[in-house]
Amino acid sequence: MINHEQKPPLNLFFDVLSKKSHIPYKSGKPKNPQSVMKEVEQVLTHISEKNLKITHIVSFNDPILVFKAESDVPVQKKFFCVKINSCIRAATNEASILQALSDRCNTSCRFFPQLENFFEIPSKKKHFAIVTEWVDTEPMYSVFKNSIKSLKMFTTQLVFLLHHLHASRVISRDIKPSNLLLCKPYRTILVCDFDLGIFLPDMKYTSYEDMKVPGTPGFIDPAFFVKNSDLTKCDIYSAGKTLAALVANVEEKHVQKINTSHLVKMACSRIHSETHKKNFQDLLQLMLNRDSKKRGSTKDLIMHPFLCN
Ligand SMILES: Nc1ncnc2c1ncn2[C@@H]1O[C@H](COP(=O)(O)OP(=O)(O)O)[C@@H](O)[C@H]1O
Ligand SMILES: [Mg+2]
Repeated sequence: MINHEQKPPLNLFFDVLSKKSHIPYKSGKPKNPQSVMKEVEQVLTHISEKNLKITHIVSFNDPILVFKAESDVPVQKKFFCVKINSCIRAATNEASILQALSDRCNTSCRFFPQLENFFEIPSKKKHFAIVTEWVDTEPMYSVFKNSIKSLKMFTTQLVFLLHHLHASRVISRDIKPSNLLLCKPYRTILVCDFDLGIFLPDMKYTSYEDMKVPGTPGFIDPAFFVKNSDLTKCDIYSAGKTLAALVANVEEKHVQKINTSHLVKMACSRIHSETHKKNFQDLLQLMLNRDSKKRGSTKDLIMHPFLCN
């Protein structure tokens, strides 16, 4: 088991890696998930001096592999999420953002999984492992289920989450259903996956030319490439798309095939009360305004009649 009190010297690692921050987003060769699993198990065991078993593959989004792992200490069994990435820039980004967020946020406003460890897999140079606490989740698409109350609760949490994230000077740039974790048992939400995340003062990233992937198709802010636009607003746009997709019950991979105003219509048609429908439509339109300057900020959204009334 990884010991909470004695965290590994992450800073050392970041010192080394920050010197490589100019490295473009480029990954190594795709790998066989089974062989990576064995390597990771060995390294985790070596680092924690306890046996950690990988129980299953959570996702394989080449070149990224995500596993669930458990410690083999029967009395104090603990579960971890292990993310292996061969893209050094993305892995460093994610680990440094998670570390910065835990440094800046106290435990009562936690809105991201806790980072437990970050290391290079020594045997194969170009692979990095990010270990976070395992979060038990419910399916994200269960959030609406025709209940306005649960939709309002979810939307409020999503807006607060973005507010906290941006107040910590971090932008996700990849808000979408699969990067939100709907936690059991209270249905609180956490944001995961900071591969594409950026720190706000980091002006060198405000032009996105060096990043091959500006986000997930279907969720990318159309004002994304506009110079000097308010960067926090790209998360608001993606959150609007996320809400619309969840309520319309459209799978993440199909969102890009649907015109935004049609998606909003589909979502609103599932709301029966005329007042809620009108307010929800207005909220989505505020979040999805193509002009980032006219798009609502988190403060505007929290005061919106859909959430206030
Ligand atoms: N800490 C965690 N606990 C439980 N499940 C997680 C955790 N982090 C990620 N996941 C799950 O793994 C999936 C992939 O992780 P993610 O970081 O989004 O990787 P990718 O960059 O491949 O999208 C997520 O969609 C989520 O379902
Ligand atoms: Mg993801």
